Amino acid sequence: MYTKIWEAANYISSKTDIKPLLGLILGSGLGYIADEIEDPIVIDYKDIPHFPQSTVVGHAGKMVIGMLEGKPVISLKGRFHAYEGHDLKKLIFPIYVFKELGVEGLILTNAAGGVNRTLKPGDIVANTDFINFALKNPLIGPNTDELGPRFPAMVTPIDKKWLKRIEEKAEEKKIKIEEGTYCWMMGPAYETPAEIRMLERFEGDLVGMSTMPEIIAANHCGIKSVSFSAVTNMAAGILPQPLNHKEVMEVAERIKHKFAKVVKIAIKT
Ligand code: 6GU
Repeated sequence: MYTKIWEAANYISSKTDIKPLLGLILGSGLGYIADEIEDPIVIDYKDIPHFPQSTVVGHAGKMVIGMLEGKPVISLKGRFHAYEGHDLKKLIFPIYVFKELGVEGLILTNAAGGVNRTLKPGDIVANTDFINFALKNPLIGPNTDELGPRFPAMVTPIDKKWLKRIEEKAEEKKIKIEEGTYCWMMGPAYETPAEIRMLERFEGDLVGMSTMPEIIAANHCGIKSVSFSAVTNMAAGILPQPLNHKEVMEVAERIKHKFAKVVKIAIKT
């Protein structure tokens, strides 16, 4: 595992002099933020040794390195999901590559369904806690001690101090950031109404098919993280009409600007 990480990181650092401090992993329809990176070095996932390949529509499969808001960043445009059939170990590979490259902070974004009835489509919600309803852990298997401990703590899944500063700055710009617990589901089918009622009773606020594996890996190897959901729709049974992927992409499109501002504030903070 460690050799493969090293080989991938080595390939990436051979393409640029930039030493990224922040990693960005941008979810469905949210990859445009990476288009604003200045003097970008773009690397196809397929050219990076041992790197997983993205299969989902709307996910580009490119790594972009450059400066954004004055900070050196490395961005994954198009992330990896368990439902694509990736081995969970493979899914978190990029996080360790980031770590090897010297990344200290990770900014994650995702599109999520609203479980908490006080949320509405278009809201931006900081993921302050997580529930692993995929019931699988990406760290299953032999532990690579060079990367992190066998039993990593998950008591502070995200960096609360970093988030607080981001929230304060967002408020100054009149952007409201809600807070909520993100429930990771395996997908690819959306949930049933009974499943959403279950999540509600377990005090879940959001539901989605990503982000938690990356959060686990970041906690494992000691990268500070913040994570934000765009509520693209209410989850099953909360509203009478069924969900569709097109609707998800449309709301993501509508809140583009607001979401990009939050990510930029997070980079600067
Ligand atoms: Cl309702 N469920 C899941 N699992 N992922 C989503 C979603 C719902 N809405 C956007 N992404």
